[in-house]
Amino acid sequence: NNTLVGFGAGKVILLGEHSVVYGYPALAGPLSRGVTARGETSNKCQLVIPEALTPEQRKVLKAAFGRAMAACDEPGVRVSFNTDLPLSMGLGSSGALSVACARVLLQAAGRKASAMDVANVAWEMEQEFHGTPSGVDHTTSAMEQLILYRRKPGAESGRSKVVESPKPVRLVVVMAGARSPTKTTVGALRERQKRWSERYQRVFREIGLLASEGAEAVEEGDLEALGDVMNVNHGLLAALGLSSPGLDDMVHRLRNMGALGAKLTGAGGDGGAVIGLFHDTAPAVHELTRQGFRCFDSQLAGPREEGATRGAA
Ligand code: MEV
Repeated sequence: NNTLVGFGAGKVILLGEHSVVYGYPALAGPLSRGVTARGETSNKCQLVIPEALTPEQRKVLKAAFGRAMAACDEPGVRVSFNTDLPLSMGLGSSGALSVACARVLLQAAGRKASAMDVANVAWEMEQEFHGTPSGVDHTTSAMEQLILYRRKPGAESGRSKVVESPKPVRLVVVMAGARSPTKTTVGALRERQKRWSERYQRVFREIGLLASEGAEAVEEGDLEALGDVMNVNHGLLAALGLSSPGLDDMVHRLRNMGALGAKLTGAGGDGGAVIGLFHDTAPAVHELTRQGFRCFDSQLAGPREEGATRGAA
């Protein structure tokens, strides 16, 4: 009775959240934190649903797992999971769960699976969680690399290009405010952009250009330029009504602590996470922790120090 294990990494979007839903590119990378799924041989294919979930959450989770399980021909495995990711903070917890489950299901089905195969099964779950996700979360989680991602309208999954960095790209990730459900924020923005399509599309297009410029800055090892692009991106997200006083305050705090750039990451809205780009993350993590904020640091790309695991957290 051997145990199967599958890990799905959380993610941060460096540039391009929301506009990625409308077909523009986004730059995103994996976190060291994520979801670990475990599978035990069983006569029935099933997911162990945590007690703490609400009836609505249980229903969604069951439906999502049902789709992934069907995509793998219902192998005989009982899957449970645990996570060290903050939930509903824009850090890709549902994408990470989808990837972790997909890895265990594919192993149980005896299939040799590429990152793309994992992403395709995870995509089944993500659609159930989010309605109209761009696919950036679970793709980043399955690829486990910094990618420039672009959704293909109507297609199963988007295109992604791995972005190599000659320098370490180090972030501080801070929880700044309440949990904020992605579905609600994405839905409200959709209503505004339906009504004032041209104005919103102009901003989405500009954010897409920033994501591509940011990818070039990473490849050139120009972290100052990357930081500047992040700052401008935050301003445009605020212009789209996706920031809040709490998120803005944290962005300014990080800049005052010497961040090369800082912005909200993920869906934004009333709460969620803020990221800051630093040459050295340790002093900011120390200071924010002292101020009572929940935060951690993570390396998204570039050469790693001898002996270091992925990310510091
Ligand atoms: C959520 O992590 C990112 C959004 O762009 C939604 C999506 O891409 O599906 C807000």
